[in-house]
Amino acid sequence: MAKSLPDKNKKFELYGIFGYPLAHSLSPAMQEKAFEDIGIHAYYLTLELTPRSAGQAFRELSKTPFSGFNVTVPYKEKIVGYLSGLTPEAKSAGAVNTVYREKGRWKGTNTDIYGFLRSLEKDAGFSVKGKRILLIGAGGAARAAVSGLIQKQASSVTILNRTASKAARLAAFFKKKSGRTTLCSALLDKENFLRVSREADLMINSTSAGLKPGETPVPKDWILPARQIKSRLFFDLIYRPAETSFLKFARLKGHKTLNGTGMLVYQGARAFELWTGHKAPEKLMRAELLAQLAKERK
Ligand code: ATR
Repeated sequence: MAKSLPDKNKKFELYGIFGYPLAHSLSPAMQEKAFEDIGIHAYYLTLELTPRSAGQAFRELSKTPFSGFNVTVPYKEKIVGYLSGLTPEAKSAGAVNTVYREKGRWKGTNTDIYGFLRSLEKDAGFSVKGKRILLIGAGGAARAAVSGLIQKQASSVTILNRTASKAARLAAFFKKKSGRTTLCSALLDKENFLRVSREADLMINSTSAGLKPGETPVPKDWILPARQIKSRLFFDLIYRPAETSFLKFARLKGHKTLNGTGMLVYQGARAFELWTGHKAPEKLMRAELLAQLAKERK
């Protein structure tokens, strides 16, 4: 079916992503592909904002021409104080990655949680309810993961982190709202990892260890072979590289693996839907993302 092309004489809409640093963000290509597909005349800009000017810029949000925007590291928590309202997801996570206009006011939500859960369910066929989960890391990405796992009633979530006090703080943040999910935290060491991974159904890496070649959150010998603990799902929230050491070790030991590509697509798709009211062309967005990643590897 022929698509209607945007009327170039019409006023265009502006969207964007605030973060620092922001090199190589894939969101512009993914979102602009979706706008084009639906026939919306819009641009999506990368808005690298230094920490020095972020506070002032967020105070002046009402004067900006944006129809909506994303927020990424390191502003997902900071932006909260400058918005008129938050969705329950954003409140629960204490972090915002998507801002949209509602009755002329800026409202913040967290589509990372949606992206995280949808990728688990749709891409890996994994249902969280009643499952035991080992989560490595206690930063912003871990926060979205814990929030989603509680929402879907995981049986338990054990947060292991290199700095144990940060894991304890994250568990404490969610303790009162953890519902049916038992939350624990401990130091990320071999003993704890082996103890928890023997019982867990899903292992998640939410740390940044794996972004650079050779980095890994856990050494290879900590990952038990599938013949000893049965095949488990290993989920790395990183999408670049497509296969981190964490996932490679798991795959070589016979486990199922999932990377962060789907999560990135679905969080973006949900943001697109909130901004435009149109159903997001998820498949096209994923294809564009994969094409951009392939281009980078050349
Ligand atoms: P993000 O918002 O992307 O989650 P962050 O808030 O800086 O980023 O958190 C990074 C997480 O990765 C932390 O849990 C960090 O552990 P510490 O709390 O001990 O700093 C974890 N991390 C980073 N590099 C790591 C490494 N080499 N091994 C294990 N954990 C690592």
